[in-house]
Amino acid sequence: MAHIGMDLNRFILEEERKHPNATGSLSLALTAVETATKIIASHVGKAGLANVLGRAGGVNVQGEEVQKLDVLSNEIMIQHLSDSGQFYALASEELEEPIFPENGKDGRYVIAFDPLDGSSNIDVNVSIGTIFSIHKKITGTVEDFLQEGYKQVAAGYVLYGSSTMLVYSTGNGVNGFTLDPSVGLFLLSHPDIKIPERGKIYSLNEGNYLKWDEKLKQYINALKEKGSSSRYIGSMVADVHRTLIKGGFFAYPADEKNKNGKLRLLYEVAPMSFLVEHADGKATTGKEDTLKIKPESLHQRVPIFLGSKANIEEILSSLN
Ligand code: AHG
Ligand code: MN
Ligand code: MN
Repeated sequence: MAHIGMDLNRFILEEERKHPNATGSLSLALTAVETATKIIASHVGKAGLANVLGRAGGVNVQGEEVQKLDVLSNEIMIQHLSDSGQFYALASEELEEPIFPENGKDGRYVIAFDPLDGSSNIDVNVSIGTIFSIHKKITGTVEDFLQEGYKQVAAGYVLYGSSTMLVYSTGNGVNGFTLDPSVGLFLLSHPDIKIPERGKIYSLNEGNYLKWDEKLKQYINALKEKGSSSRYIGSMVADVHRTLIKGGFFAYPADEKNKNGKLRLLYEVAPMSFLVEHADGKATTGKEDTLKIKPESLHQRVPIFLGSKANIEEILSSLN
């Protein structure tokens, strides 16, 4: 039985034992993510010292400036996930095309990831994270990444905050582990996370207010009148983590300029929606459930509203 303080590796193995037909492959896949993110965590912790701050001088495929820790995190993820032999293909937010690792030929899974989320917060010492999304390999082509979010076999994030936490789900509850840096182990600290049914916090970039549609403006104005609280970190991992624990909602809506919002379906929206839904919350674009969207391209963006069920239902009826 899972108990507080249980090591993530033991937890993963106990989960595997619940499935008599399991090959152990998913456990090894998750362990590769764990190892890579522990290494990233150690780099993040030394960011101010290691002279890795500042821009690497390039722009990523999203047309945004790339910072050094993004590049490093991407390399660490690629190396460890490839070495594990469990992944037939890897897709990174930072790369135009997927990678098919040499020793992943027998891999049963494909993984999409955002190696470092919240990169504008790196050089101001504010929480950042890594997000991952695992699907079954089916055709062995790029199509495998274009499966609906509800078909994920596992999804999760690592939050590099005041402590480092790994939160993941294989579709059977959501569990959170805190890294004990003295022993280098993720220990179960947040078993079976359930998002509160309703929350008072709303989280979105109000700098975009003037570009929102009228109904959204009115909805947010009404929240202010009701005395809601506003919290916005600007790192999706940190904003979603708070939302999972405290409830309320996080959103990156469409606006006049960005018809599909900003966040990417494969690397950000689908995995976070999977966690929120498995914690009894809800995730929508404002029109449809995000987990039901069949992706059309690797770097597709979609609007997102996610959080407590009651808040999201209220948003849906206000916007439609
Ligand atoms: P990334 O650093 O991976 O590019 O992601 C940044 C994302 C996400 O973390 C956050 O929710 C959002 O950008 C913040 O955007 P704004 O600065 O437009 O509010
Ligand atoms: Mn991101
Ligand atoms: Mn990123």
